[in-house]
Amino acid sequence: MNRDGVIFTGGGTEGNILAILSLARAGKGKHVITSSAEHTSVHAAMNAVEREGYEITKLPLTSNGIVDVKLLESFIRKDTVLIAIQHVNSEIGTIQPVKEIGEVAKKYNIPIHVDCVQSFCKLDISEFSPLVDGIAVSAHKIGGPKGCGAVYLNPRRRTVPVFPGVTHEKGLRGGTIDTPAIFAFATSIENFHYDSERYWNLRKLLKEKLADTSCYFIEGDEAHQLPSICGLCIKGAEGQYVMLRLNEEGICISTGSACDINSASGTKAILAMGHGLSEARTFFRVSFGMDTTEEHIRKLGEALVKLDKEIHN
Ligand SMILES: Cc1ncc(COP(=O)(O)O)c(C=O)c1O
Repeated sequence: MNRDGVIFTGGGTEGNILAILSLARAGKGKHVITSSAEHTSVHAAMNAVEREGYEITKLPLTSNGIVDVKLLESFIRKDTVLIAIQHVNSEIGTIQPVKEIGEVAKKYNIPIHVDCVQSFCKLDISEFSPLVDGIAVSAHKIGGPKGCGAVYLNPRRRTVPVFPGVTHEKGLRGGTIDTPAIFAFATSIENFHYDSERYWNLRKLLKEKLADTSCYFIEGDEAHQLPSICGLCIKGAEGQYVMLRLNEEGICISTGSACDINSASGTKAILAMGHGLSEARTFFRVSFGMDTTEEHIRKLGEALVKLDKEIHN
C-alpha cells in the first residue's frame, strides 16, 4: 500500500462513493460486480453508475453470510471494470473473504474497492491491502469524530476525479481538509482497542442465555465472523417491536446498521442470504462496544427471554 494514496474524507459514505465512481469511470468497460448486502453508500454509487449505462451484478450471500468467490469469478466479463465488496457486514458481522477475492481480481487485472468501515482497527487488513485499489474507513466507528474518514486509492490505478478541476488531495477531493477532525481520527486509531476474545465470550454468554428461546443468530462460521456484531431474530416478533421493548428496559439495539435507521433496508444481509421477507422483518442487531459488560449481556438475555415467553405463551 502506497501512503500517497490516502485521501481524507467526510466519512465512510463519501469514501465509498468517491472510490467507486473514480475507479469505475476510469475503466474501459461498463460492468461492475458487488454484493446485495453492501452499505447504502455502495448501492448509491452503483445506482449512479447504472444511470450512466453500467451493468451491475449484485452477488447473493451464502447461508454462511459470505460471498462465494467461485460464483464471483464466474461473473467476471471482459468489460468488468470494478469489484466492490465490504470487509465486514454491518448487519450480521460476517467477514468477507477479501484476500481470495483480491487474488481473483489480480488474476484478471480488475480494480477492487473494499469497504473497511466496520473492520478498520478491528481486523488485520494487511493480508489483503497490497491486493486492493480502494479502501474506505470511517473515524466514528472507532471512537473518533463523526463526519471524518479516509479512502485509499491506489495511485498506480487510473482514476477519474469526481470533483472536477480541484487541486486538494491530489485532485481527488476538493476543499481544505478538516485538520482538527483528522487529528482526532489519528488519536482514536492510537487509543482504540478491539478485544476480540472478550467479545467472543460476551457472544457465547448471550447464546447461552437464549438457548431455550425462539431467538436465533444469523451468522457466519467463526473464521468469518466479527464477534461484536450479533444479527438476531425472534420467531413471530417484528425487529421494530423488539427494539422498542428493549428500549423500555434501557437497552439500545437496532433493527439494522445504525446508518440505515431511517430506511427499511437494515435487512439487506439476511435477504441476500436467501431468507424471506417475513423472517427479515423479525431481524434485529445487537453490537458490543468497549463499555459493554457481562452484566449488560445478562440483562439483555433476561429481557429477550421475557419477551420470547410473552410472544409464545
Ligand atoms: C459498512 C459501512 N460502510 C459505510 C458506512 C458509512 O460510514 P459513515 O457513517 O462514516 O458515512 C457505514 C456506517 O455505519 C458502514 O457500516
